[in-house]
Amino acid sequence: MTETVHYDREGQIAVLTVDNPPVNALGHAVRRDLVAAIDRFEADDAEIAVLVGSVKLFLGGADVSEFGKPPRDPWLPEVVSRIERASKPVVAAIHGAALGGGMEVALGCHYRVALEGAKLGFPEVKLGILPGAGGTQRTPRLTGTDAALELVTTGAPVDATRAKVAGLVDRMVEGDDPRIAGLAYAGELLEQGAPARPVCDMPAPEAPARDWETWDDELKRAYPGEVAQQKAARAVRAACEMSFADGLAEERRLFRELMETRQREALVHAFFLERQVSKLPELKGMEPRSVDAVGIVGGGTMGTGIATAVLLSGLPATLVEQSVEAAEAARLAVEKNLDGAVRRGKLSEEVRARIDLTTTTDYEALSEADVVIEAVFESMDVKRQVFDMLDRVMKDGAILATNTSYLDVNKIAAVTRRPADVIGLHFFSPAHVMKLLEVVVADETDPEVVATAFALAKKLNKIAVRSGVCDGFIGNRLLSHYRAAATEMVLQGASPYRIDAALEGFGFAMGPFRVADLAGLDIGHATRARKGPRRGEVNPDWDDRLNEMGRLGRKTGRGYYIYDEESPKGRLDPEVTEIVEGVRSDRGVRAREFGDSEIVERYLTAMVNEAARVVGEGIAKRPLDVDAVLLFGYGFPRWRGGPMMYADHVGLATIRERVERYARDNPDFWQIAPLLADLADNEKQFKDLN
Ligand code: 3HC
Ligand code: NAI
Repeated sequence: MTETVHYDREGQIAVLTVDNPPVNALGHAVRRDLVAAIDRFEADDAEIAVLVGSVKLFLGGADVSEFGKPPRDPWLPEVVSRIERASKPVVAAIHGAALGGGMEVALGCHYRVALEGAKLGFPEVKLGILPGAGGTQRTPRLTGTDAALELVTTGAPVDATRAKVAGLVDRMVEGDDPRIAGLAYAGELLEQGAPARPVCDMPAPEAPARDWETWDDELKRAYPGEVAQQKAARAVRAACEMSFADGLAEERRLFRELMETRQREALVHAFFLERQVSKLPELKGMEPRSVDAVGIVGGGTMGTGIATAVLLSGLPATLVEQSVEAAEAARLAVEKNLDGAVRRGKLSEEVRARIDLTTTTDYEALSEADVVIEAVFESMDVKRQVFDMLDRVMKDGAILATNTSYLDVNKIAAVTRRPADVIGLHFFSPAHVMKLLEVVVADETDPEVVATAFALAKKLNKIAVRSGVCDGFIGNRLLSHYRAAATEMVLQGASPYRIDAALEGFGFAMGPFRVADLAGLDIGHATRARKGPRRGEVNPDWDDRLNEMGRLGRKTGRGYYIYDEESPKGRLDPEVTEIVEGVRSDRGVRAREFGDSEIVERYLTAMVNEAARVVGEGIAKRPLDVDAVLLFGYGFPRWRGGPMMYADHVGLATIRERVERYARDNPDFWQIAPLLADLADNEKQFKDLN
């Protein structure tokens, strides 16, 4: 049995060191060893104890991988109470981070010192739960109720300075050694004869300054559909209105309720997804090439966003445009993005001053770049010219990447003499903000190039997902398909506004027609013009009409919605309804009613069915890759875990039955994906393929 908590002495001080890499999660062994260490301290003649973490942080919280499994004694609340009930004082010395259950252990200690820069907080709500080891009861006793509500309902950590001001810690000190800081503080306490000081014995907190109903309303508004935030507030309320023991029991009850929810399951899935997407067998042991300089070709919407992301990561960027004017415009656009980053506190003035951006019209400037990302017009001819040029000027071993949305990366690679070094890096707009990056692996792409793309993504703070080559890769291919399902519903009688509202009610940040307005209706129009409708897809004539009228979405103040000073977020446009009705009557369609649940079901069923094809064809390696794309690039609600998890929850037999039912209207469009049929036949789930 390995020991995860080491015990040693410095004079009269016992030092308990938690050692459970990588993040000192409070799994069963750590809980067991913590209790044993406290027992040893009680039996020992040491007069005070210091609890520290040996890895890069104090304690990272409960072990999330144990969620959903049968609990094993001792539970975390018991561990915290055991520390708190020690007869001699225990000091928590916090460095790096004390999160969730880790913060709760710190609150079980009698005194707390934090090193400058440490992050303290309760991220539980981001996992669909609430602090379940006394955090909601002890925090308000130290910080007051409003500050505690803020901490547990937002899930956002505070730094040591703010933690000190809030009363979460007694002391904030400089330095980088928590053991030294803990020993110093314990020495002082020893000298003062400070006693054990359990938080549970402190008076119950007062009601919040804003009343409970106001808090409740605000949480409902801020986190529509989610349940954890409101329950976390209820647990804090229990701290104000009940005895400590009863409050703890109430917290436990609410915690257990949340543990059983699908939201919890979905949010934990999302937490692990972020990390699993980059774990690909083909990348195991593969050393990425070094990337010290990045080039970008094309300084439009995407090129300037990508350049900004590169610069924010600390790498130098060289951007090539067609003309001096365009290069200058690109420089200004990047500068504007960087100013915004400074304003939002994402970039310090000092680092901004050191940023290394070159804009030019000379391709030779890319000769030393390790990676060049092309973001010119979406035209195969233009891309071929650019790749031919890049092939000539770039050094050996450099990577040639394209940000194409739909074009065939194999054909682009074929222009060069080094197809093994060509890859797709598909960013999302705005590229310096959106988390998702699709790494599009072409037939001849070298695995080392793939590994380098994943490493670069990490450096750029992106979540990279591997995709194979197909029309639209994972994300845009699904988008085309579920958009087509929405179009079909509009033709049959649902208004675009009703569809948007139903999907926003499901939890999407924006419905598909709002998204279309944001992206620009000309983009969808151009894509359709290039590809033509696919099998069974309804041609949305109303889109063409809107286009002809110059209504391109937000950028022209009118698309599906009207955008003006009165309604910057858009209001309904009766003219659109008229145009749609005109198209229905031209086609002899009698409109029928659509309820919100039918809209959501049809839309998601289309998404899941196409996703099953994408996985079945090997374009996405695993269902989890699809979930990640939709969560981090397409506004799918995180607390629903992504379309594949949604499908598993609904049941694949039900999804298949829906496809069959919708097929009666439009058999060409609603063809069941073989993988979906196969899983449903065998009573399997998508998650079995992860
Ligand atoms: N449980 C289990 N595994 C965890 C974990 C946790 N709480 N936190 C991190 N890990 C794992 C990650 O999955 C990853 O595993 P991998 O290497 O196999 O992919 C590894 O630890 C390293 O994690 P990161 O890559 O995220 O490391 P970083 O250094 O970037 O970040 C961190 C460290 C800030 C601690 C970050 O991991 C984090 O935010 N973790 C989650 C913290 C959290 O939510 N804690 C609350 C848990 S709920 C709780 O405590 C309930 C209680 O109230 C009862
Ligand atoms: P854009 O039209 O805003 O910018 C393209 C830029 O490329 C223009 O500034 C143009 O002057 C420049 N350019 C054209 N030919 C060039 C050449 N030979 N050398 C140097 N510069 C050249 O287009 P946008 O939206 O930035 O798209 C670029 C690429 O990114 C396209 O392939 C598009 O499909 C893809 N993309 C677009 C997304 C979006 O939301 N706009 C999202 C993801 C990918």
